[in-house]
Amino acid sequence: MKRSKIKDILSKDKVGEKVSVKGWVRTRRGNKNVQFVALNDGSTINNIQIVFPLDRFTEEQLKPITTGASIHVEGDLVESMGKGQATEIQATELEVYGTADAETYPLQKKGHSLEFLREIAHLRPRTNTFGAVLRVRSALAYAIHKFFQDKGFYYLNTPLITASDCEGAGAMFQVTTLPLNELPKTEDGAVDYSQDFFGKPTALTVSGQLEGELGATAIGEIYTFGPTFRAENSNTPRHLAEFWMIEPEMAFYDITDNMDLAEEFVKYCIKYALDNCRDDIEFLQKMYDPELIARLEGVLAKPFKRLTYTEGVEILEKSGKKFEFPVYWGADLQSEHERYLVEEHFKTPVILTDYPKEIKAFYMKQNEDGKTVRAMDVLFPNIGEIIGGSEREENYDKLMARIEELNIPMKDMWWYLDTRRFGTVPHAGFGLGFERLVLFVTGMTNIRDVIPFPRTPKNAEF
Ligand code: 4AD
Ligand code: MG
Repeated sequence: MKRSKIKDILSKDKVGEKVSVKGWVRTRRGNKNVQFVALNDGSTINNIQIVFPLDRFTEEQLKPITTGASIHVEGDLVESMGKGQATEIQATELEVYGTADAETYPLQKKGHSLEFLREIAHLRPRTNTFGAVLRVRSALAYAIHKFFQDKGFYYLNTPLITASDCEGAGAMFQVTTLPLNELPKTEDGAVDYSQDFFGKPTALTVSGQLEGELGATAIGEIYTFGPTFRAENSNTPRHLAEFWMIEPEMAFYDITDNMDLAEEFVKYCIKYALDNCRDDIEFLQKMYDPELIARLEGVLAKPFKRLTYTEGVEILEKSGKKFEFPVYWGADLQSEHERYLVEEHFKTPVILTDYPKEIKAFYMKQNEDGKTVRAMDVLFPNIGEIIGGSEREENYDKLMARIEELNIPMKDMWWYLDTRRFGTVPHAGFGLGFERLVLFVTGMTNIRDVIPFPRTPKNAEF
């Protein structure tokens, strides 16, 4: 018999049919006459109840059915008399695939802390919480592709191994095949990278943007969606060493077009999740965050507030609030500042623009004032920065001047500069941190809980 997914047999329209289900046991309870098993197969947060009458099954047969065991059941789908479910299965056949010893199975009991579950990241997808988060994450990934594909953007795959440092922060993971205990040296004692795999130093990318610009200035509108790596030692609930980023890059867009796209894009993703992941989001709301759905709907309800960095700093200075990090014109805003603007002052997501050039990357378009660049950060409640982007400096001389000012090694940048030498155009783009979006939509509070296998300093176990 063909296997049914549990999500397809929970409503009454299949009642009366014979069904076959396969999954993992969540609980078993009952009495001498009948045993009830809650079975989950990952297709939905909801379990199906399976009824084992003890005149058909022996105690001995049911003994291996403990929490975590995997089973295959056939039976009749009937309307349920019990509360909490519309249908249940009257079992006629049972096959046990794998037992899970009640003494040693780590998820035998419910209600483990998220911290404990991080230590068993190989098993946590079997919990309700992580099932819900993983389904929402998958739905958001689909929404992202759908949003851009429907708009005629092309999906561009940019390299993970690179020789250039896009963000200029220097926090890169080196990639090498040189023997670390016996490095080849040049005559002057430096490491001889000509003997390395690529013949020069390389690292894992921090962003696909520079290559994204090559795509945008050729086929118009592109987006990337892939892993990026940052070796910064930030042990915060919002930073990962390996995270996924979505980076659209568009020829002929200015900063306003860029903001409009960013706002439409995140709103689309949030709405998609609300429309398609309702059960999971309701579960997460019930378990972790009573405000979740109201917050998601709140973001959709109004236009984001747009203002300049300078205006933002003025508001922060006048706020009278004591911040841990001092705020002044020129300071890099901390998450406490961003969240003050969003959560307390405006009570809506904020797009801050025109940051001081000193705290932003070399590629951003310089404003006439000589002090600021056409940057934009989208700031969200509970998260802080969710998107960072800018209009790009398309003028060859101005870009060169900035590269020289910052001492960026020119020889590594020749291919990037060619976009400004040949048929340069105004263009813009941004990067959305995928896990920060998943954090926001699921209401989870630690970024380690929205990626299946988190990579953070001193942690790469699974
Ligand atoms: O602001 P960032 O560094 O911007 C860029 O990388 C640009 N090249 C993007 C572009 O214009 N194409 O990073 C973009 C976003 C941030 O707003 C944040 O959401 C996320 O990526 N992000 C991180 N997420 C998790 N862990 C980290 N360590 C992150 N660093 C940045
Ligand atoms: Mg940023």
